[in-house]
Amino acid sequence: MPLTKRFTLTRYLIEERRRFPGAGGDFNALILDVALACKAIARAVAFGELGGTPGQPAAKVGDVGGAVNVQGETQKPLDVISNQYFTGMNEWGGHLAGMVSEEMEGAYQIPKAYPRGKYLLAFDPLDGSSNIDVNVSVGSIFSILRAPQEVIDSGRDVVESDFLQLGLTQAAAGYALYGPTTMLVLSVGNGVAGFTLDPSLGEFMLTHPNLKVPADTQEFAINASNSRFWEPPVTRYVDECLAGKTGPRDKDFNMRWIASMVAEAHRILMRGGVFLYPRDSKDASKPGRLRLLYEANPIGFIIEQAGGRASTGREPMLGVQPTSLHQRIGLVFGSRHEVERIERYHAEPFKPLETTPLFTERSLFRV
Ligand code: F6P
Repeated sequence: MPLTKRFTLTRYLIEERRRFPGAGGDFNALILDVALACKAIARAVAFGELGGTPGQPAAKVGDVGGAVNVQGETQKPLDVISNQYFTGMNEWGGHLAGMVSEEMEGAYQIPKAYPRGKYLLAFDPLDGSSNIDVNVSVGSIFSILRAPQEVIDSGRDVVESDFLQLGLTQAAAGYALYGPTTMLVLSVGNGVAGFTLDPSLGEFMLTHPNLKVPADTQEFAINASNSRFWEPPVTRYVDECLAGKTGPRDKDFNMRWIASMVAEAHRILMRGGVFLYPRDSKDASKPGRLRLLYEANPIGFIIEQAGGRASTGREPMLGVQPTSLHQRIGLVFGSRHEVERIERYHAEPFKPLETTPLFTERSLFRV
């Protein structure tokens, strides 16, 4: 397709806005600022061991920043820089009332020097950053919420409860994937569109309009090293997938685990599949590994906008009432029929798969 016919992200947003004659343009400007932060992070990630980008301290991929974030994870310089790009590029525009990040304990206040706006931004600036050292794809995830009217009217500082909104109410959500190509995948509540970064123009170009997750799949993703901590419905589901043609599913499955959720979500958007990081008994203080506000909800919004399904296993993810900023939750998402099956297994009494060798004494997933 000739360049002149391609939609840039800006054009896509303008055309989307035409559906809402009353829209003032704040929302589009906010998304373009988020996209700029993602481009800056893409550049920082792409420099790899060469470290640093113009005007930034050298951040080599193997460096350990030393500080520990609110999740108890060691921050790397690229985590810190990515967080600074998100806050710095989004605080000045007058579109936001506040932000929340995986890398910051409390809500981030818009500095007094700038006007405050009507949206809230929650983000994980560099998800899967343990993969940075090994040059595997990482990403950024973001969720845009509407600030409560009283916050907009008063202009007061934001507090935790302002962000504790159902995933259903997200105004937009997206992720950037820093892989062989950098992509931005976005939903403004009207389907899902994928944009590829043209590095020479510095523009995200619409390359994947109207993304859809196929309803059926033969591919699943789970960290099987946690199998002894899984709950019975998850064990049942995985055992049935592993039994393949010899089990009740009557078809063979393929397995993937990148340990980088943005990359897994992207694979599922491209060709279907199911991802599970379910609630387990590994650490009683952590009911699940992934974070609700800036991981599970935005990924869930995108997947559902693409016709897939996102769930805790027990209830739809987007209907969960958040209780804290950094709340963790079990997450299952992907091809609709598979996620529905996993939900059904959670609702039914446990039925072990007696007929497969996986359930014998020497089974792969029995202790
Ligand atoms: O939340 C960070 C993250 O890296 C996700 O992107 C990924 O799905 C998960 O953690 C990997 O966890 P584990 O190391 O337990 O496989």
